[in-house]
Amino acid sequence: MEVKRAKITAVGHYLPEDRLTNHDLEKMVDTNDEWIRTRTGIKERRILKDSDKATAFMGAEAAKEALEQRGVDPEEIDLIVLGTVTPDYLFPATACLVQKKIGAKNAFAFDLSAACSGFLYALSTGAMYIESGRAKKVLVIGTDKMSSILDFTDRTTCILFGDGAGAVLLEESDDGTGIIDQRLYSEGDEECSLYQPAGGSLNPATKETVENMQHYVRQDGRSVFKKATLGMADVSLEIMERNNLEPEDVAWLVPHQANLRIIDATARRMGLSNEKVMINIDKYGNTTAATIPLCLYDWKDKLNHGDNIVLAAFGGGFTWGAIYLKWGIK
Ligand code: UT7
Repeated sequence: MEVKRAKITAVGHYLPEDRLTNHDLEKMVDTNDEWIRTRTGIKERRILKDSDKATAFMGAEAAKEALEQRGVDPEEIDLIVLGTVTPDYLFPATACLVQKKIGAKNAFAFDLSAACSGFLYALSTGAMYIESGRAKKVLVIGTDKMSSILDFTDRTTCILFGDGAGAVLLEESDDGTGIIDQRLYSEGDEECSLYQPAGGSLNPATKETVENMQHYVRQDGRSVFKKATLGMADVSLEIMERNNLEPEDVAWLVPHQANLRIIDATARRMGLSNEKVMINIDKYGNTTAATIPLCLYDWKDKLNHGDNIVLAAFGGGFTWGAIYLKWGIK
């Protein structure tokens, strides 16, 4: 029996207009542009300022753009899988809110929590619905309003993240392109090196959790950095080796944008030169689940049908992984 393959047939995005530059941050916390640029690669990030708009809004805008690009009616969508760590509400799922906003009334929709690997996990899940024949058209969305969980008095975290969303449409491939292989990993991080301490069932919101600033991102940057550098490089090399890909066979690395130094280490390990690496961390910072589809969006006009592309990410959980695909848009 021939195995079905899922391919990306459209890419949409949403970025808030407001920019928060390193120089703006210099006025807010004890930091400086040079430190941020050299340690992370970030120059500015986008912030969604409207208080009545959040993660679902951005995800819906990105999804609408992808559907328009392909000329697909929202009612044709069978499934929406959405990765986020900043859902509009703890429940219902942000994916259901997006479903309503875009009018995808025939789709079922759910969220998936895998932090910075959220898009990879969601893409692999969506692809399997296509591969099994259970769905014909799937929207995979990565969207995060990180500014809603940032402590803008903590210089170790507030400089890192930004807001944004990306979405791809998945359909069955008929030309050999599409998602070929995936390798995903998890390792429960009971030390909580990267997490939001309160707001969940273990530490529900109280006056104390608010006063103690426990509803914000906390990160032990140094230990996450070490794990991320190893994890992302190892899994990227693993996916190359098991698909017999030499560096010259890979057209693009699409890395999660957490830190330029982590991206460089991954590219080096894969034997790739800088020109083959998508980097937009300078403009958007770390948008968590949105980094990879935002790269695909920014580079979509440079991608050629059949290009071998490796997507790779590492994030809280810990979660990490890589997906190998052949670009399917002509
Ligand atoms: O996407 C999800 C996964 N997350 C990641 O992959 C992030 C992984 N971690 C990182 O990217 C890096 O660890 C950071 C960018 C967060 C930090 O860079 P670092 O090179 O690991 O710096 P550090 O934490 O070791 O701090 C070095 C120094 C410290 O001062 P002392 O102790 O040497 O005096 C910090 O207090 O830099 C200081 N520092 C700052 N200085 C200016 C920390 N943050 C800042 C800042 N501005 N914003």
